[in-house]
Amino acid sequence: MIKIGVVGANGKMGSQVVNLAINNKDFELVCAIDKFGVGKQLCENVVVQDDLEKALKDNKADVVVDFTQPSVIFENIKTYIKLGVKSVIGTTGLTNSQIEEIEKMSKSSNVGVIIAPNFSIGAILMMKFASEASKYFSNAEIIEYHHNQKKDAPSGTSIKTAQLMMKNNDNFKLGNCAETETIKGARGGEYEEDGKGKIQIHALRMPGFVASQEVVFGSDGQILKIHHDTFNRECYMSGVELAVKHIFENNQFIYGLENIL
Ligand SMILES: NC(=O)c1ccc[n+]([C@@H]2O[C@H](COP(=O)([O-])OP(=O)(O)OC[C@H]3O[C@@H](n4cnc5c(N)ncnc54)[C@H](O)[C@@H]3O)[C@@H](O)[C@H]2O)c1
Repeated sequence: MIKIGVVGANGKMGSQVVNLAINNKDFELVCAIDKFGVGKQLCENVVVQDDLEKALKDNKADVVVDFTQPSVIFENIKTYIKLGVKSVIGTTGLTNSQIEEIEKMSKSSNVGVIIAPNFSIGAILMMKFASEASKYFSNAEIIEYHHNQKKDAPSGTSIKTAQLMMKNNDNFKLGNCAETETIKGARGGEYEEDGKGKIQIHALRMPGFVASQEVVFGSDGQILKIHHDTFNRECYMSGVELAVKHIFENNQFIYGLENIL
């Protein structure tokens, strides 16, 4: 039985993880942390608390699952490593340099961390296919669509997709003419890596979407579109389950669910 703590337990994703931890025969929910809904009873022995360190120390979680928000996630992960608690991180918004720092801390302290910008299997495949297509196309742009309560832009998935694409092609956006934006931001944001070119990312925010992404490739006379839609948040839970079981057995640092599929 894996003892699980959920951070952000009162949120849209966190409450799904609470259900998973309560209903999965291999898991036991031992603590739930959120700054809202404190005192709410989630199951017989667990109420929502707001003191992260105390909750983790008192309840000895084997694995903590974090779906909070970009402004707190870096400090939260440092706390998990300091307390020696393995973590599965779904919260997005970490910068590349923060991820590098977490990797060093995780390895030097020997405390496993999985950071996955996307836990949906379809989205992982969408990223893999985009990475594969990048061997054959040097012009690509990413459009990501999310609900209008999302706090960070562009999405962690779109950034991770661009990174995987650049692993297979270091000459993106060849041949575009010089451009002028008459409305600032019209061409989206540029994801750029040293010497590898640029991939433009466009972020749409509106009610109705959960999370979707389209990667559009072009070359003379042809367009390839790779598109993935998410309709509810249950689609992430099989990926969360896989990540919890993996990190429980392995003391590794992992960035991206594709590395354990
Ligand atoms: N990896 C994935 O597959 C995936 C999928 C969907 C969303 N996300 C990401 O997960 C995060 C959460 O998304 P959501 O839609 O559930 O958001 P949400 O706003 O519904 O939930 C976040 C919860 O975290 C709580 N919280 C915030 N700061 C906290 C703190 N310091 N301590 C304790 N609790 C705190 C909030 O009170 C809230 O209940 C976002 O970063 C989002 O981009 C990731």
